[in-house]
Amino acid sequence: MAYIIDGKQISQDIKNELREKVTQFKENGKNIALAVVQIGNDPASSVYVNNKKKACEFVGIRSVAYELPEETQQDELLKLIDDLNADHSIHGILVQLPLPKHMNENAIINRISPLKDVDGFHPQNVGALCIGQPGFVSCTPAGIIQLLKRSDIEIAGKECVIIGRSNIVGKPMSLLLLAENATVTIAHSKTENLMEVCKRADILIAAVGRPKMFTKEYVKEGAVVIDVGIHRLESGKLCGDVDYDDVLSICSAITPVPGGVGPMTIAMLMNNCVESLKLQHME
Ligand code: GUN
Repeated sequence: MAYIIDGKQISQDIKNELREKVTQFKENGKNIALAVVQIGNDPASSVYVNNKKKACEFVGIRSVAYELPEETQQDELLKLIDDLNADHSIHGILVQLPLPKHMNENAIINRISPLKDVDGFHPQNVGALCIGQPGFVSCTPAGIIQLLKRSDIEIAGKECVIIGRSNIVGKPMSLLLLAENATVTIAHSKTENLMEVCKRADILIAAVGRPKMFTKEYVKEGAVVIDVGIHRLESGKLCGDVDYDDVLSICSAITPVPGGVGPMTIAMLMNNCVESLKLQHME
């Protein structure tokens, strides 16, 4: 029977550890603050933003919310980012994505100081990750590494196949696994013989955004399956990119949806907020 990787528990363990660190920082007069910026009121974004604020409260990080209307102009948002970059009482800046269509996402990401970019999206942080220098790492892939390590799953030397090449998950995931000495393949919508490529994987990471796409035909016997997707079915139930019930009998370990990768993203955001204190004092 497959081992179910409990992302909820692992995320709680990490938040408990961070809470202790933050308490110590406070005793030394260091208070961490995260600016959370949301433009418009997309319901999914509102849920994510609220969860981030709640996690901050638990860990002991001050969150400062900026809820701006959908019509906000790009220049106004850039001005807010400039102000937050210059504000020494703010350590992390998070601009919730997606942004309204009239804004250029890259221009916004590039304006956030790399030293406050707790999402790890700024090109300087992505570049630092690529060459093994200190910097912020994108939260979801960093969370997946924690899930594997804290479940005692060996990464070094293993065949890892990531399906999905996004800037937020697929690409940074490949760099993190490489840094752990895995053999890494990134597959995507144009990959030929996708099923065969996936079947090579000791660790299969599904991040394509298609509900229940990966059935047991894609999975090698005994593989570890990490499911990054989250979708709401018409029945109201949540599911991932992996057909969980089908794959369960063939894999050695699997992350459920919900309760797998999802909770880890926020735990790693909290970790990055704590790291922001260190990075800002390295200069
Ligand atoms: N939208 C969906 N995921 C994320 C994330 O990790 N960070 C930000 N800023 N926006 C998102």
